[in-house]
Amino acid sequence: MFDVSINVAWMKRSATLAINEKVNALKEKGETVYHLGFGESPFPVHPRFQKALCENADKKSYLPTQGILSLRKQIASFFEIMFHLSCTPEQIIVTPGSKMALFDTLMALDGSLMLPSPAWVSYQHQARLVQKETHYLYTSFEDRYLVTPTLIEETVEKYILRKKEQKILLLNYPSNPTGQTYSKSQLQALADAVYEHNLVVLSDEIYALITYNGNTHHSIAEFCPDRTIIFSGLSKDRSLGGFRLGLAILPKNETIINSILAFGSETWSCTAAPIQYMAIEAYKTDDELLQFIRDCTKIHETVTNYVAHRLLKAGIRCHEPQGAFYLFPDWNSYREELAKKGVKTSEDLAFHLLNNWNVATLPGSEFGRSTKDLTLRIATVDYDGSFALKKYQENKDLVEKDPEQFVNGIAPKVVNACNQLEEFTSGLL
Ligand SMILES: Cc1ncc(COP(=O)(O)O)c(C=O)c1O
Repeated sequence: MFDVSINVAWMKRSATLAINEKVNALKEKGETVYHLGFGESPFPVHPRFQKALCENADKKSYLPTQGILSLRKQIASFFEIMFHLSCTPEQIIVTPGSKMALFDTLMALDGSLMLPSPAWVSYQHQARLVQKETHYLYTSFEDRYLVTPTLIEETVEKYILRKKEQKILLLNYPSNPTGQTYSKSQLQALADAVYEHNLVVLSDEIYALITYNGNTHHSIAEFCPDRTIIFSGLSKDRSLGGFRLGLAILPKNETIINSILAFGSETWSCTAAPIQYMAIEAYKTDDELLQFIRDCTKIHETVTNYVAHRLLKAGIRCHEPQGAFYLFPDWNSYREELAKKGVKTSEDLAFHLLNNWNVATLPGSEFGRSTKDLTLRIATVDYDGSFALKKYQENKDLVEKDPEQFVNGIAPKVVNACNQLEEFTSGLL
């Protein structure tokens, strides 16, 4: 009846959706599923955000596409205080989720895209939707899946990308799917490569405040501010994914800002009015709100570290996490044993774990790895965030003294998932 345009007909249902459907089917049958596939921050909406949203429920008019000035001023102050990044409200565009900001930017920018592998699923699909030529930067386990200047250089040479032509480099740190991030000196080295090869950087820093070990996040914009567009929003550290408020911070360049705004004005018009007014509250930096973000981050850190240690103890290759709430473990050293069970790709591995061990994960292939790379993306958020936050705030010392006991108390399903993964892996030998 309806012929679909060839521009979207290539989009197939992702393995993510197929796995989620399988999870639901298993749950309907009454089976317990340990869901390490779904990556949504589980913490409650802070009461002050709820109050601000209620108080602005009467805001019904269309607002400027760029976002209201009072919110953009608040965001500018937030970035100055939290990251020592100074920008003016004119450099900020508020969008219905950072995903939209990223899509519009990819649409607006000329040049081919250099995309790390592994990287978050949506980048490659968005790039294809806007018909952008994409070159993968195949990072290695040994480099903690980080992009290096050498990798950039090799990719530029391999694809004979002309020096003078603008090229787009996408970076995401702390990373979904790896939980790794860049140090200040690594960012400085990447910034040198940015100038050398005429790149512009799309810097997805949505997990910036979920950084572990008390480390502060640094942005590549500190080193190449005129070449960097930062993406951020309220979805992760303030657990407000469904509120749909994201943003881009651009260099002082009217051409690109106006192009994105023109595109936004013809498509999504503006971010929802009550959400924009609420967000003024969410971008405040008083002690109470910053403590809320720190508490949630500490819980992410404790649970994700716990899972990483359990995996390492079970003989699974995995990096110590540095941020976000993901791990990217690797079963490549069990290739032969897994092949005997018919598991030859990361998708086979994810389905095998779901069908036989009731553990849901996502295959590395969804994140741009080759299908034969036996990696999985694990999210560490299958627990009740309200309960976890309450327990943590009642007894903060426990997390330092006995993190295992804390995780056992707040995240029994995550603990059980680790037991399952351990038993599965030890059975391979
Ligand atoms: C790396 C990364 N960037 C962007 C997003 C999307 O964020 P938003 O809710 O702001 O669209 C996600 C969400 O999963 C993500 O993991």
